[in-house]
Amino acid sequence: MSFSIRTYGDPVLKSKAAEITEIDDKLVTLCDRMFDVMFKAPGIGLAAPQIGIQKRLFVYDIGDGEGVLINPEIVESDGEFMYEEGCLSIPGLYVEMLRPARVHVRGLNLDGETVDVEADDLLGRLFQHELDHLNGVLMFDRMSPDQRKEAMAAYRRILEAPNSQEPQHIAFK
Ligand code: NI
Repeated sequence: MSFSIRTYGDPVLKSKAAEITEIDDKLVTLCDRMFDVMFKAPGIGLAAPQIGIQKRLFVYDIGDGEGVLINPEIVESDGEFMYEEGCLSIPGLYVEMLRPARVHVRGLNLDGETVDVEADDLLGRLFQHELDHLNGVLMFDRMSPDQRKEAMAAYRRILEAPNSQEPQHIAFK
């Protein structure tokens, strides 16, 4: 079975993913596949719904090792941090978004053990972004109506010129 990355407009990206109740070999294999898809993209994070699997799971690697979080939740967050985000499901669009600076995320690893991770900067942002995917939330949903209009227009420009490969960066005033 091969997986492709679902992009904006696919209803699976708007739906809430289901809690994982069993960590078995199939889930380990799924994670392997997700890493393959993520590295090939290339990307640094991928949530299961992005390949059409409605399970609460994401994989990531920001350059210091592979990580998997199952049924993750944010148990604490604080601060504010403006940082540019991209999304493999909205390819080519990079938008500066304001979110909490630090998060404490709790989930399970593939051995079924509870893991607690505190993260800021890129990893903190990645966790919040991937967790959003598990709740059917995309970057567009985190914007004001005016911001969304601007970002959608930029994304449309990307879709209309798919061969230009010209990324669109947006920073809202
Ligand atoms: Ni994304």
